[in-house]
This record gives sequence, structure tokens and C-alpha cells, in this order.
Amino acid sequence: MAGRILLGVLAFAVSATVGQTCRETKVAVLGAGLTGIEAAKSLSNAGVTDFLIVEYNSDIGGRVAHTTFGQDANGNPYTVELGANWVQGLGTPGGPQNPIWVLAQRYNLSNTYSNYTSIETFSSTGANDFTSLLNDFDDAYAYVEQDAGYILTEGLQDRSFRSGLSLAGWKPQRDMAAQAVEWWEFDWEYAYCPEESSQEFAIVNYNTTFYQFSEENNYVWDQRGFNTFIKGEAYTYLKPNDTRLLLNTVVTNITYSDNGVRIDNADGSCITAEYAICTFSLGVLQNDDVTFSPALPAWKQQGIATFSMGTYTKIFLQFPSDQVFWDTSYQFLLYADPYTRGYYPVWQSLDAEGFLPGSGILFVTVVDNESYRVEAQTDDETLAEVLAVLRLMYPNTTIPEPTAFFYPRWSLEPWARGSYSNWPPGTTLEMHQNLRANVGRLWFAGEHTSAEYFGFLQAAYTEGQAAGDVVAACVNRVYAPEAYYENLRGSTTPTEYNATNGWIVSSFLTYGF
Ligand SMILES: Cc1cc2nc3c(=O)[nH]c(=O)nc-3n(C[C@H](O)[C@H](O)[C@H](O)COP(=O)(O)OP(=O)(O)OC[C@H]3O[C@@H](n4cnc5c(N)ncnc54)[C@H](O)[C@@H]3O)c2cc1C
Ligand SMILES: *[C@@H]1O[C@H](CO)[C@@H](O)[C@H](O)[C@H]1NC(C)=O
Ligand SMILES: *[C@@H]1O[C@H](CO)[C@@H](O)[C@H](O)[C@H]1NC(C)=O
Ligand SMILES: *[C@@H]1O[C@H](CO)[C@@H](O)[C@H](O)[C@H]1NC(C)=O
Ligand SMILES: *[C@@H]1O[C@H](CO)[C@@H](O)[C@H](O)[C@H]1NC(C)=O
Ligand SMILES: *[C@@H]1O[C@H](CO)[C@@H](O)[C@H](O)[C@H]1NC(C)=O
Ligand SMILES: *[C@@H]1O[C@H](CO)[C@@H](O)[C@H](O)[C@H]1NC(C)=O
Ligand SMILES: *[C@@H]1O[C@H](CO)[C@@H](O)[C@H](O)[C@H]1NC(C)=O
Ligand SMILES: *[C@@H]1O[C@H](CO)[C@@H](O)[C@H](O)[C@H]1NC(C)=O
Repeated sequence: MAGRILLGVLAFAVSATVGQTCRETKVAVLGAGLTGIEAAKSLSNAGVTDFLIVEYNSDIGGRVAHTTFGQDANGNPYTVELGANWVQGLGTPGGPQNPIWVLAQRYNLSNTYSNYTSIETFSSTGANDFTSLLNDFDDAYAYVEQDAGYILTEGLQDRSFRSGLSLAGWKPQRDMAAQAVEWWEFDWEYAYCPEESSQEFAIVNYNTTFYQFSEENNYVWDQRGFNTFIKGEAYTYLKPNDTRLLLNTVVTNITYSDNGVRIDNADGSCITAEYAICTFSLGVLQNDDVTFSPALPAWKQQGIATFSMGTYTKIFLQFPSDQVFWDTSYQFLLYADPYTRGYYPVWQSLDAEGFLPGSGILFVTVVDNESYRVEAQTDDETLAEVLAVLRLMYPNTTIPEPTAFFYPRWSLEPWARGSYSNWPPGTTLEMHQNLRANVGRLWFAGEHTSAEYFGFLQAAYTEGQAAGDVVAACVNRVYAPEAYYENLRGSTTPTEYNATNGWIVSSFLTYGF
């Protein structure tokens, strides 16, 4: 299975382009998100200090990104997170700790426990208590979870999460309150609806994080920005103004072979490397933002095309602090639109104890198809829709004009092309291993290459370190290519759940094999 790419032409492509001298390095780390920063840290720890980190943006952090928004009573702007916002799964005393939680504490990130029972529910006629449906969903979920364990241990065919829910007796159909509850429990986490998600691997993903560490999510509101911890990690091995970090550098072409890798950038510069680790998102790979030479092999293209890139859009509003109209004792508001599932469903108040009290900041999240719709609209169009929903939620209240309004457009960012990855129904570890495996001396790593933590920051952390370790071993003459599969099959055999196929962390769960 282990791959070899036989391409005689590449030795020449990598070494010689007439009239241009490329910067040389042992390892090119492509991207300075958490994966790239952890990969270079592993290289550095293994004594491989001859590396370059190449990054599109002007700062470290990738999808952990913030902006200034609105202002406080003294005219100072607030910082809000546009990408990752939670540490998901913390840890228990004496038990395994989420590495992200360890780092959040090391860098003193201000954060607060997200209390999911602190929720007020609404329909289009105002407050409307349908919280009992949350318990109904949880009962069905417990069945889906066990059923997913059975699919895994018996090596059975996967199905959609929707099928799993139906078999468990959860059938929301035209009950829009039930649809809103389902969105809150599922789509809000996976950035896809249950029809578009794998039953088995959605549960694997939940179990690995929340049953290994803990079922808590802590919301980070640090005014220095969540990426403080990624910068902290970077500067454990980089010097200030380290010339090994190339910011504002857009990679356009990657030429790979069994002998090396050449990187060409939009500014005309180039790099030749013995090895490279590409940490660009699944969305970037799917969108052909970067050209690979030679074209990626069929099995690799299948790996990239099989998985999906979700979009999660947070829409921020600031209201005058003396005209806050929502009940600030709740952390969450859940809205059930009468016609459209996923239409401005989950609202979070930052004007709350433990967050940014007095800020007047409220934000609403949409995902998937509603994200694409909203991200294609102008700010004014979206603001009008958002205010119309608030008028339905608070029928006898004058909703003031917001003093600030902003949302990112993740699906359109050429360096992200979405928010985080998801596994469609019927996927297998072999299919995923094709997304993960190297081609020649080019390795791939990112949240999307983690079979168990995909989507979460802990995915980027563990996959970055793993790729850095493997490539450091290669530099030190222990070449260890990844497995890949030319011919795919419809389910994963129980014995395949091992490190060869990227199944690294779930050994803590006893599946009975
Ligand atoms: C809206 C949103 C909410 C999220 N919420 C959470 C959360 O609450 N908790 C959680 O754990 N996770 C969350 N995530 C997921 C988390 O942010 C990601 O899993 C993680 O940051 C991915 O890190 P990465 O290094 O793999 O990828 P990235 O951070 O995308 O790093 C890749 C880097 O490559 C660079 N790059 C791309 N193309 C090029 C190019 N052509 N040339 C040069 N450089 C390039 C990018 O600029 C980027 O810096 C969220 C993500 C989003 C977007
Ligand atoms: C975090 O806070 C502690 C206690 O205030 C302090 O000793 C430590 O230096 C801080 N660490 C960082 C990285 O700011
Ligand atoms: C969470 O919120 C609920 C409802 O407001 C409250 O009863 C409970 O005490 C809160 N839990 C924690 C840990 O703050
Ligand atoms: C998920 O965890 C539940 C509860 O421990 C278990 O019953 C189930 O088998 C697990 N499923 C998977 C796919 O890991
Ligand atoms: C790093 O660069 C910045 C901006 O160019 C400069 O202000 C700073 O003094 C430099 N720091 C060091 C340690 O050289
Ligand atoms: C990079 O790829 C583009 C698009 O395929 C191509 O036009 C260009 O010639 C390539 N550049 C290099 C330096 O290979
Ligand atoms: C998105 O999908 C939901 C079903 O999950 C549907 O109700 C809604 O109308 C869709 N929105 C768009 C913009 O297609
Ligand atoms: C709004 O006002 C109308 C008319 O006074 C009243 O019937 C209705 O109950 C009020 N709705 C709410 C949510 O307070
Ligand atoms: C993982 O399983 C596959 C298929 O059963 C096997 O070929 C491979 O050697 C195993 N790898 C490890 C590390 O056990």
C-alpha cells in the first residue's frame, strides 16, 4: 500500500528553472495556522532547525483569527473572534487533558464555561419555551451513539446521521421547534445538516473529544485574541523577527517528487526544499487555489473530493449599552423560524457576566447553505434580515439600530475556503487516509487529516506534531511514507482502526478488539 510516485521528470523540475535562484531549505512548512506552527515545533525539537514557514496572511494563527469590533464606553475597540472560539473538551483531574486547554491555561487566555442550559427559546411570536425537546433529542442521541459503536466494531456500512436519528425515533419533520433543537444539537457543531454527515464518524468525533477529555466547552473572550496561544507556541522556537517565518507570502504552485519539493509564490519568489508539509485547508485543496505539479494522483484527488468543508458564519452586532433589549442572564437564545430550518437560529450574548458585560454585543451564527447565502449578500441585506428576526423574537420591543455590524465570509477567503471539515455519510478510514497520505516528499496535515478530532483545534495540534515528527525522521534518513489506497471499499474493517490509517487517539475507548 505504501506509496511511491514514479516521476522521472521531477528531479529536473525541482532543481532547475532557468534564470531563477530559489531559497533552499530542508523543510518547507506551508501555512502558519496551528498545524504549521506545531509541525515546525516538532521539527525544531527533533533538531531540524533548517525550515521555512510560508504564510499567506500577515500574522500567525490561520483560522484562529480575530478583529476589532465596536467600542467600549471609553472609545476603545473590543476584540471578537471570527474563527475558533471555544476550547472544546477540557480534561478531568488525573485524566487526559486537551492539549488546547493546557495551552489556554499556560497563556492565561480569558475564558468562561459555556452553560448550554442557560438558554431561552423563541418562535416567530416571541419567547416560547420548547426546551423540553432538548431532552427528547438527547434520548435519541444516546441510541444513535451506541448504534454508531456497533457500526464501528462490526465493520458495517455507515449511513447518514439523519438515518441514524430516524432509526432512533427522532423525526422532527415539519415541527420547526424540533428542527431548531436539532440544529442546535447537530448542525451548530458539524456545520452540516444530519443528511450530509456520517453517523459513525460524527459520533467518533464527539466521543473522542468529549468522552476522553470532558463534556465542557469554554468560550475564549481574551482581548489579546485567541491566537495568543499559537503565537506563544511559535515563539518557543522562533526568535523575534525570525527570518524562517515568511508572512504575506502566497503559495501558487507546488512541484513534488521523490527527490524534493519546489514552492512558487505569487510574488515570483521560490523555495526548494528536501521535504514539505502542506497545511492548507481542505477548502483550499478542493478549490484548486494551489496548482500541484504533476497533477495529484487519482487516489489523492479522490481523498480531497470525498470529504466536505463546512462553513460557520458568526454575525456580530453591537447595540447601545443602555438599550440592550434581551435578557442578559442567558448565554444563548434559540430561534425557531416558521419556514426555514437554520435561519438565524443561535444567538450568543457577550453582554453577560463572565464575558464582556456592558458591551451590548450579540452575535448570531448560521452554517452550511445559509452561510453560503448570507456570505453572498451585502452587509445591508443581512442586517435587514437579522433585525427582522429580532423583531419577531421581541414583538413588543423597539429594536434599536446597531452601532456596529460585521461578519466574516469564510467561504470566500482564498486562504480558507470555508471553516472546517466534515465526513459525509458512507465514508471510511481508507478514504480518509488518502486525504492524509503524502505524495513523494510532500506531506499533508491539518484539522482535516485527523480521523478522530477533525474540525477541532486539537486536530490541528496533533496532526501538526505528527507530520513534523515523521518529516524530521525522514530528514534524519528514516523515510516512512503513509499508506494509501488505490481501490476503495464501502466500510472500514475492524482491524484497520490503527495508526497506519491515522487512527491514533481512540485507544482509550474499548471497542472490544
Ligand atoms: C468560524 C470557525 C469556528 C471554529 N470554531 C472552533 C472552536 O470553537 N473550537 C475549535 O476547537 N475549533 C474551531 N474551529 C476550527 C479551528 O479553527 C481549526 O480546526 C484550526 O484552526 C485549523 O488549523 P490548521 O492549521 O489546520 O488550518 P489553518 O488555520 O487554516 O492554517 C492553514 C494556514 O495556511 C495558510 N494558507 C492557505 N493557503 C495558502 C497559500 N496559498 N499560501 C500560503 N499560505 C496559505 C492560511 O492562511 C492559514 O494560516 C473553527 C473554525 C472556524 C473557521
Ligand atoms: C500567566 O499568569 C501567571 C500568574 O499571573 C503569570 O505568572 C504568568 O507569567 C502568565 N503567563 C503568561 C504567558 O502570560
Ligand atoms: C447553567 O444555567 C442554568 C440555568 O440558568 C443554571 O440553573 C445553572 O446553575 C447554570 N450552571 C452553571 C454551572 O453555571
Ligand atoms: C460512543 O460512546 C458511547 C458511550 O460511551 C458508546 O456507547 C459508543 O459505542 C461510542 N461510539 C463510537 C462510534 O465510538
Ligand atoms: C522586529 O521588527 C519590528 C518591525 O520591523 C521592529 O520594530 C522590532 O524592533 C524588531 N525586533 C527585533 C528584536 O529585532
Ligand atoms: C503555476 O500554475 C499556474 C496554473 O496552472 C501556471 O499557469 C503557472 O505557469 C505555474 N507556474 C509555475 C512557476 O510553475
Ligand atoms: C438550507 O437547508 C434547509 C434544510 O436543512 C432548508 O430549510 C433551507 O431552506 C435551506 N436554505 C437555503 C438558502 O437553501
Ligand atoms: C405583545 O403585545 C400584545 C398586545 O398588547 C399582547 O397581546 C402580546 O401578548 C404581547 N406579546 C409579548 C410577547 O409580550
Ligand atoms: C493496521 O491494520 C492494517 C490492516 O489490518 C495492517 O495491514 C497494518 O499493518 C496495521 N498497522 C499497524 C500499525 O498495526
